[in-house]
Amino acid sequence: MKYLDQVEVSGKRVFVRVDFNVPMDKSGNVKDDTRVKASLNTVTYLREKGARVIVASHLGRPKGKRVEEFSLKPVAPVFSALLKKDVPFIDDCIGEKALAAVAAMKAGDVILLENLRFHPGEDKNDEAFAQELARLCDVYINDAFAVSHRAAASNTAITKFVPVCAAGFLLKNEIEYFNKAMGDPARPLAAIIGGAKVSDKIKVLENVIDRVDRLVVGGGMAFTFLKAQGYNVGKSLCETDMLDLAGTILDKAKAKNVQFLLPVDVVIARTPTADADVKIVDIKNIPDDWMGLDIGPATIATFSEAVKSARTIVWNGPLGMFELAPFSAGTFQLVDAAVASGALTIVGGGDTDTAIHKTGKSDRISYISTGGGAFLELLEGKTLPAVAALG
Ligand code: 3PG
Repeated sequence: MKYLDQVEVSGKRVFVRVDFNVPMDKSGNVKDDTRVKASLNTVTYLREKGARVIVASHLGRPKGKRVEEFSLKPVAPVFSALLKKDVPFIDDCIGEKALAAVAAMKAGDVILLENLRFHPGEDKNDEAFAQELARLCDVYINDAFAVSHRAAASNTAITKFVPVCAAGFLLKNEIEYFNKAMGDPARPLAAIIGGAKVSDKIKVLENVIDRVDRLVVGGGMAFTFLKAQGYNVGKSLCETDMLDLAGTILDKAKAKNVQFLLPVDVVIARTPTADADVKIVDIKNIPDDWMGLDIGPATIATFSEAVKSARTIVWNGPLGMFELAPFSAGTFQLVDAAVASGALTIVGGGDTDTAIHKTGKSDRISYISTGGGAFLELLEGKTLPAVAALG
């Protein structure tokens, strides 16, 4: 795979596939510009090289139709302000309008095209649509890591029709950090896996168990493992149809000598609400009508030790219902442990990112992925189709 700094871009029309699938508020304004900021290295480099930069993305899931609430128009001023350069918005991504806008560009100019998913060909990885996009450019750069687990026309089929294709700096960073952490890591390698359901993370668990030295499991999914070990979990989240699989994973960890850390105490409440009465109990003592919503202090201490003494940490999924203050200590204190470890720490997944940003310590984490589903698929050991298309 080629990277952006290995291809000739000066004076060229360069199509940059980014992921500007940003959250919007009720009035249609961008709520979080992290993904726009993440594109700036690539776009600025291209401008400095005198390229004409054609930026394209999806937003939401409009299913092949023009749906105003998913227009990228409100992203253009945010992008312009961050880039300190006016970025005209073009209200289609193919056809005469797009071609005319590109033809009028000068070296260093940037335009933002309308949502790729307004055309049905995008999600279908359709070659005819990809050819329309390819007409706009001489060079194709993929910098949209967060959508690279989906084979779409703008990140997969298009590579067949543009003579020069490469990965942008964001995609390069994502892949390099991930490979450093999971490929040939400094050991011990600890994975922290949380979130609500075992079923969402089963493939991740199955894959990481072959690679890690320690597996730290919290969040709602921990209760399925605890139940599989015979504990009463009360009203805690528990997937009864996953109990056998949870047992198999525990056995596999034992056989492979992987330290599998589960909560030993939990913060419980009768309801998952901020004003609920809470108690801290040993996992042997969860009452029938209470539910576990965070890991307890003894667990925080053990988990923190396991994390602090690791040399590499990979983290996906919160350890409790961190959105509510009474159940946030587990996740937040594990952020402190990861920071204190000085280990290479890679974090991915929307909720985990949000939790880390809430602590204000995101700049002390080695790398926070822009991907949710894409990061999970990497953790599952899958090859991402859009990355493969560049190879
Ligand atoms: C994301 O936000 O995870 C990516 O942009 C992919 O979006 P999608 O799940 O709608 O394909």
